[in-house]
Amino acid sequence: MSEVRSPQVKRAILGAEVAAGFGPGKVILLGEHGVVYGEPALAAPLRVGVQAVARAAERCSVVCPRDLSPVHRRALEEAFARAALLTGAPKVQVSLKSDLPVSMGLGSSAALSVAVARALIAAAPPRPGRKASELEVALAMEKVFHGTPSGVDHATSACGNPVLFKQGKVKPLVAKRPIDVVVVLLGDRPSTKDTVRGLRERQARWPDRYRRLFREIGHVAREGAEAVTSGELESLGDLMNLNQGLLCALQLSSDRIDAMTRELRAMGALGAKLTGAGGDGGAVIGLFEDAAGAVRTLSKNGVNCFASRLAG
Ligand code: MEV
Repeated sequence: MSEVRSPQVKRAILGAEVAAGFGPGKVILLGEHGVVYGEPALAAPLRVGVQAVARAAERCSVVCPRDLSPVHRRALEEAFARAALLTGAPKVQVSLKSDLPVSMGLGSSAALSVAVARALIAAAPPRPGRKASELEVALAMEKVFHGTPSGVDHATSACGNPVLFKQGKVKPLVAKRPIDVVVVLLGDRPSTKDTVRGLRERQARWPDRYRRLFREIGHVAREGAEAVTSGELESLGDLMNLNQGLLCALQLSSDRIDAMTRELRAMGALGAKLTGAGGDGGAVIGLFEDAAGAVRTLSKNGVNCFASRLAG
């Protein structure tokens, strides 16, 4: 910003939008937790997500949403500082807008990370040397939010397609038929960090038996990817039901999650399971041929839910 500009001109320039970025939320159709142990997961982006807008400012900063708890505020500031460092700290103030339910296992922190990475990279002035990619910046932020994430959340958000994800590698998939899900929001759940840690303790104690279950989850995810590309939705639904059983075996489900999966199946879902880290609460997904109709019925019964087309 030139020092010779008048204060009025400077004010106008300082508030101007210079870049923006969107990061969609995600659902894991198959393979959560197994993916932390090197198995593949099948995931897809939602239509809803986080929008980051970068406006010209004196220094690189983020506007923390007012309703954030002190813990989440600190995490956002630390994650943003890492993103700023990787992108050369462009002189912008980033504000955030989200229509994604938070802390429900729908990848809200990954969506935020991708949105911020996109906005900062787009706002960064040209500079010599290697530039950090969108995925690198978003992963650096995700590590602050989740400790040791598998990377499936931010990779799915950045890709914008259904993906088969394994150990940092993303295989985008072309779905032969539309994939429509109902996402039911059950409410508060333990943090992903805590749920992942609890499972790691059990797995460390009895590695062989847990390894068998993770391997089976990996098979289910691979078969699910084939079902997506061949348009076999009944097979995909069956795999979701099997995956729910495996998540129960891993002690990651709960009475209210199980009850909702049964309700969705009774309403005609081809398959239903928890999505994300699980524990208790969070989100449950059902694969439907008529997701909008299912949402109407569920909403009449007071269930908090929405429909999303994941592909097609
Ligand atoms: C979180 O959306 C999915 C988990 O598998 C954790 C991870 O992949 O980092 C539970």
